[in-house]
Amino acid sequence: MIFDSHAHYDSEQFEKDREEVLSSMQENGIGTIVNCAADWDSVTEVVDLANEYPFVYAAVGLHPDEVGCLDEERFAYLKEQCQKEKVVAVGEIGLDYYWEKESHELQKQWFIRQLALARELDLPVIIHSRDAAADTLEIMQRYAQGLRGVIHCFSYSKELAREYVKMGFFIGIGGVVTFKNGKKLKEIVEETSLRQILLETDCPYLAPVPYRGKRNSSLYLPYVAQEIASLKGISYEEVVAQTEQNGKRLFRISS
Ligand code: NI
Repeated sequence: MIFDSHAHYDSEQFEKDREEVLSSMQENGIGTIVNCAADWDSVTEVVDLANEYPFVYAAVGLHPDEVGCLDEERFAYLKEQCQKEKVVAVGEIGLDYYWEKESHELQKQWFIRQLALARELDLPVIIHSRDAAADTLEIMQRYAQGLRGVIHCFSYSKELAREYVKMGFFIGIGGVVTFKNGKKLKEIVEETSLRQILLETDCPYLAPVPYRGKRNSSLYLPYVAQEIASLKGISYEEVVAQTEQNGKRLFRISS
């Protein structure tokens, strides 16, 4: 079944029909969902949601746009949440120089702290990096050696993809791979081993074609899996099975 390695079902865009959407997952072939925290409220919400649905797991961490709210007390709470039963990763964490909501220095500081937390708790990391390729690589090479994880919504070059794969990281592939202007990502999918790829939605964002611009959900992941299958000249079933195995191995989910 399909493994969605990155979703945001606590988003208010699911306020009206969250239960209906999540209840329809299993019958539509969606086997596992990792729901990622981003802002402060979601650090609590993702754990609650994971407790409600057996097939939903949580990642706990602060998105680079949101680290301005952190202090030692909140960081201690975040660590506590990371140790809850269904929390399988620290994320999403990283650098975002596109929105520039927080200073580069503050983003780096909390990124490094959260990488250290993942190491301390022996959890994989879910990395968000936008328009910050050089600084992200520098920090990863210095502080993430030996850590496991995924570069979510990969948006950089082939060369960088190779670099992260060499470090043992997975490449997160979502709706962008179906876009007409997704040529760079299509090439990365062609050359990256399926054993290093994870499917992801980042829902409610980044819906694949033919739903581009609409609210995304895990139910659209077959379009992403199909595109990967076409690019690699393999079957849809192989893409689904291997990426599910990848996700379960990375996040240590045994069911
Ligand atoms: Ni996200």
